[in-house]
Amino acid sequence: MAVELTGITKRFPGVVANSDINIAVRRGHVHAIVGENGAGKSTLMKILYGMQRPDEGTITINGHTVSFSSPSDAIGAGVGMVHQHFMLADNLTVLENVVLGSEPTRGGVIDFGAARRRITEISDNYGLDVQPDRLVEDLGVGDRQRVEILKVLYRGARILILDEPTAVLVPQEVDELFDNLRELKEEGLTVLFISHKLDEVLQVADEITVIRRGTTVDTVDPAQVTARQLAELMVGSELPTPETRESTVTDEQVLRVADLSVRATDGRPLLEDVTLTIHRGEVLGIAGVEGNGQAELVEAIMGMRVLSGGVVHLGSKDITTWSTRKRREAGIAYIPEDRHRHGLLLDSPLWENRVLGHQTERPNVKGQWIDRASARRDTARIVEQYDVRTPGIDVLASSLSGGNQQKLIVGREMSGSPKVLVAAHPTRGVDVGAQAAIWDYIRDARRNGLAVLLISADLDELIGLSDSLKVILRGRFVADVDPAQVTPEQLGSAMTGAGERP
Ligand SMILES: Nc1ncnc2c1ncn2[C@@H]1O[C@H](COP(=O)(O)OP(=O)(O)OP(=O)(O)O)[C@@H](O)[C@H]1O
Ligand SMILES: [Mg+2]
Repeated sequence: MAVELTGITKRFPGVVANSDINIAVRRGHVHAIVGENGAGKSTLMKILYGMQRPDEGTITINGHTVSFSSPSDAIGAGVGMVHQHFMLADNLTVLENVVLGSEPTRGGVIDFGAARRRITEISDNYGLDVQPDRLVEDLGVGDRQRVEILKVLYRGARILILDEPTAVLVPQEVDELFDNLRELKEEGLTVLFISHKLDEVLQVADEITVIRRGTTVDTVDPAQVTARQLAELMVGSELPTPETRESTVTDEQVLRVADLSVRATDGRPLLEDVTLTIHRGEVLGIAGVEGNGQAELVEAIMGMRVLSGGVVHLGSKDITTWSTRKRREAGIAYIPEDRHRHGLLLDSPLWENRVLGHQTERPNVKGQWIDRASARRDTARIVEQYDVRTPGIDVLASSLSGGNQQKLIVGREMSGSPKVLVAAHPTRGVDVGAQAAIWDYIRDARRNGLAVLLISADLDELIGLSDSLKVILRGRFVADVDPAQVTPEQLGSAMTGAGERP
């Protein structure tokens, strides 16, 4: 066995994150770990990577019992981890990023020649296609992820932990990642893989361990289970069947953006003459490979970007020059792409996060003062309604699991009946049950007139929720697609500009 985790228990104040976990991972296997948000997956992986110390239990690596007090101990034992939030420095090259912290030196000087040769060798060996001299800021998400994997391999890892690596990838990139994982396996490496996308798990894993409320409930053979059975193992009960779609689109324009253009500081066009209209009761989906202008579009609508041209209208009002705050107050809710940078104050309690971005709105204020009691009550309501798993509303946002942080943001933004919801990856990192619940909330709100701009890397989500769909490529809309007709495969090829239009 490459890894054996036996009787692992980890307690945090008010929560038992891991409780008597037992997992055995075979060498050369991709071993998936699935479970609901807050089930304890990331905690377990952080323990294996030396970032957290278990209260009880033992870890053995290749038959030897180990005790890690830091990630460098874990790396020393051949265990590496790729985090969901990439940790690369944008303004450095791939080569510089990879050697950062583990430079081969010659007489005290970094030997970049040797490093470059090793990077190329590793890249060739595992089919990673990493080019050492490119600037990281010029790379797409899939490339960045390969750099992160290469960085871990460069440090000598033989056991790789990937915590939700596919959440940010579009289907083609997922396929590429899975090809890479197969190469790694063939070379005898072992991969621990966490994902909420159960179809993918079934596709790539050799074995799957299910964790429920901090403890291992079963290890199953992917050939013997369906995605639905897996999900039921995760929640411990049967799932409801999803409802069918019906249109609620009206002809009342709520958000209109015309001829919007945004340029980079060096003058490069990031968005060019983008025009869209969203009506009351309509979900407009934007499909595209990450980095094709989606982020700029969202930021332009939220007033976080300087425009080089174009106008934004909310109903009959021209809001082009309004501040972000004024836009929010006028009824535009915003689920940001990066919940750590824009969505949450990680070092503040949940109830203060309820107020964040809504500090001038009810129920958070009375007169000109923050109404703590009422903000706290409403936080408790969100926690209850959106099933945020937490010991209370006074814990810091940083102590919530990734998916539970996301649920809190969605709950906050859906509060107070907004007119428009600008949602970037609203269900990123949430489990299948929570995803279905969030979809239901969005559909309900839409039925009551909400206009939604939906950005998502999850093509099933885009197709399932949208009333209309636009494809964005290199800062322009290149196709209108009927979500009732298109398949994920057709949409995927439209996104890369390949193939005929669906
Ligand atoms: N540093 C911490 N302090 C306090 N509680 C924590 C801390 N880290 C995790 N927890 C709690 O431990 C539990 C397990 O969290 P963990 O992040 O392991 O879940 P997860 O399975 O990775 O969920 P997700 O799918 O949402 O990422 C949660 O209840 C979480 O709030
Ligand atoms: Mg997690």
